[in-house]
Amino acid sequence: MSAKKTKQIAIYGKGGIGKSTTTSNISAALADAGYKVMQFGCDPKADSTNTLRGGEYIPSVLDLLSEKRRVDAHEAIFLGFGGIYCVEAGGPAPGVGCAGRGIITAVELLKQQRIFEELDLDYVIYDVLGDVVCGGFAVPIREGIAEHVFTVSSADFMAIYAANNLFKGIEKYSNSGGALLGGIIANSMNTDFHREIIDDFAARTKTQIVQYVPRSLTVTQAELQGKTTIEAAPDSAQADVYRALAKRIAEHTDSKVPTALNPKELREWSAGWADQLIEIERASERARVAA
Ligand SMILES: Nc1ncnc2c1ncn2[C@@H]1O[C@H](COP(=O)(O)OP(=O)(O)OP(=O)(O)O)[C@@H](O)[C@H]1O
Ligand SMILES: [Mg+2]
Repeated sequence: MSAKKTKQIAIYGKGGIGKSTTTSNISAALADAGYKVMQFGCDPKADSTNTLRGGEYIPSVLDLLSEKRRVDAHEAIFLGFGGIYCVEAGGPAPGVGCAGRGIITAVELLKQQRIFEELDLDYVIYDVLGDVVCGGFAVPIREGIAEHVFTVSSADFMAIYAANNLFKGIEKYSNSGGALLGGIIANSMNTDFHREIIDDFAARTKTQIVQYVPRSLTVTQAELQGKTTIEAAPDSAQADVYRALAKRIAEHTDSKVPTALNPKELREWSAGWADQLIEIERASERARVAA
């Protein structure tokens, strides 16, 4: 067996912000570049790996465990685009039990059966919910599973709020060997001030932007075909962006403990941006009237 070290990466972010889209494109770009990749969906919806499998859902680890007591981990691993190993942890029925239980159970199953070593993986990428309040969702950052965490955020306040909560979690678990922050993947960046807002948040929390990803119709088209942008439109500008992102993540080593903003700092920071945006709007209105 090779002594290759598997790089374990977790991607967090607010609901609907683009985690699964971004994660699947990173996985696809890394697989295209010849790496052995596993994408591990940690969302109870079990839809992380859809665009790696032509839009198809796969049974989750919890689905399989509900059918029989002993599950061979290989039964929960499905091949996707470029030979990517797709796994979905799954979750309980909505409203029943802890939604994080699927992650704990699935990671334990693969660890016990030594799947990570057997498959000789280069990368395992966990696609996790933004909500780290429930212990289960904090598993990848808490227990030394993932080494590097990246968060997907737009310039919207709720996305930044979720990222800041994640940073608090990373700070908290960093003393006990938890994962460290690689940086922010800035999604849906279509105007200069989107960039300015997210740049400012990164500077204030002592982290960095790994990549700016524009909002793009190419992503929508690919998703409607049940594919990643890397698969559906490999020659597009958006695919270039995802390849650049994947390369940065693959080469990234120096993750850090971020400095989360406390509630008062976050309030002052957002109020400052509200004033600036009002001023930008007034200036553009003045320019329009003058023209
Ligand atoms: N850069 C982008 N350009 C265009 N559409 C995008 C982009 N990023 C994400 N989307 C779209 O936004 C929607 C939500 O994305 P996605 O499912 O990846 O989010 P998520 O964070 O995984 O959501 P959830 O929290 O529900 O799992 C999808 O329809 C996706 O195609
Ligand atoms: Mg998702």
